[in-house]
Formats: sequence, C-alpha cells, structure tokens
Amino acid sequence: MRLLAISGSLRAGSSNTALLEAARLVAPPGIEVSMYEGLAELPPFNPDLDTIEGDRLPPPVAALRARIGHADGILICSPEYAHGIPGALKNALDWLVGSVEFPFKPVALLKANAHSVHAQAQLVEVLTTMNARIVQEASVTIVLPSRGMSAEAVAGDRVLSASLRAALAALSDFADPARSSPART
Ligand SMILES: Cc1cc2nc3c(=O)[nH]c(=O)nc-3n(C[C@H](O)[C@H](O)[C@H](O)COP(=O)(O)O)c2cc1C
Repeated sequence: MRLLAISGSLRAGSSNTALLEAARLVAPPGIEVSMYEGLAELPPFNPDLDTIEGDRLPPPVAALRARIGHADGILICSPEYAHGIPGALKNALDWLVGSVEFPFKPVALLKANAHSVHAQAQLVEVLTTMNARIVQEASVTIVLPSRGMSAEAVAGDRVLSASLRAALAALSDFADPARSSPART
C-alpha cells in the first residue's frame, strides 16, 4: 500500500508537514508513506501547458502526476491562509484537475489545527469536484499539543501516533478493502 503525503505548508517548521512526516514514521509494515516535496517547484498553473499526453508538461508537473499515479491513496494536511487553501497547494491541485492519475483517488484530509474550518471546507469542495474519494474515517483532526513539535516527537507520542495509525489504516482499508488492516488484526 503506497500513500503519498502532501503538506500545504512550505514552512520549514510546519506543523502540517510534521504531522504527515510522523505518519510516515509510524506507518505499519505494509503501508509506505512517502512525502511529496515538490510543491514549491511547480510553475503557476497554465491550461495552455496542461496536455493529457504529457508531452508538453513542465517536468515538475509530470513528476507530480507520476507520484499521484504511483500512489494508492493520498494524505493531505494543510494550514489555512486568510480563510482559504494556501496558493501553493491550490496550484498543485489545479495541475491535477486535467490529469488521468488523480480522479477517484482515495484521499484522507488530515487537520493539525482545530480552528481552520474554512480551508478544510474548501478542500472538501475542490477535491469532490475533482472526483477524489474523500475517506471520512481517515479524515481526522490531530491537534499537536505544542507549536514547533517535531515529527519524531509526534511519532513518539502514544495518543498522537495511535490516531495517525488509525487514519492510515482507514485510508488503506478504503483503498484496498481486501487488505487486512494492521490496526484491526
Ligand atoms: C498569512 C497567514 C494567514 C493565516 N490565516 C489564517 C486563517 O485565516 N485562519 C486560521 O485558522 N489560521 C490562519 N493562519 C495560521 C496558520 O494557518 C497556522 O499557523 C498554521 O498552523 C500554520 O501551519 P504550518 O505550521 O504547517 O505552517 C494564517 C497564517 C498566515 C501566515
């Protein structure tokens, strides 16, 4: 089971990235979480360059689509800026609208900040429009107790890591119902 984690924050000490990185660290055998780190390299979305065949795609866009195509499911965790989705993340999603890789992909929408309701609601709307399959059981809020908490500290916290493992199991079970979930065995 291959899961791709996309953080909406470019900040070095990002709590959203830390939560996703912690998910990578606590993933049980059989679930591989890889981090997408190309958000800042994507060019601004331009429909003129957006060809299904991919022959004229900018390389960072082709790389993003390949990573999405390779993944069985996607984890997204994003901050909210001015009651909206961060521009860098929305730009990435815009590049995926016309892709053949993204539609019907299972997505878990994680949340690291209990207060940011607008960006989350907008992500649900945008992802639903893009024909993502948002997995409710895997879309959980996991508030980090302290600002600047590292991924290792999150992974080492019994309660936080259990919540992350449960979300990973729910996303994996949805992506492959035939799979025996480590959280339920
Ligand atoms: C420019 C800017 C605008 C923000 N606007 C909001 C907002 O509208 N609502 C909110 O809940 N938080 C807002 N925040 C706070 C961030 O969403 C919050 O600090 C988040 O945890 C940062 O995520 P990160 O640690 O992954 O970078 C804003 C932060 C910045 C820098």
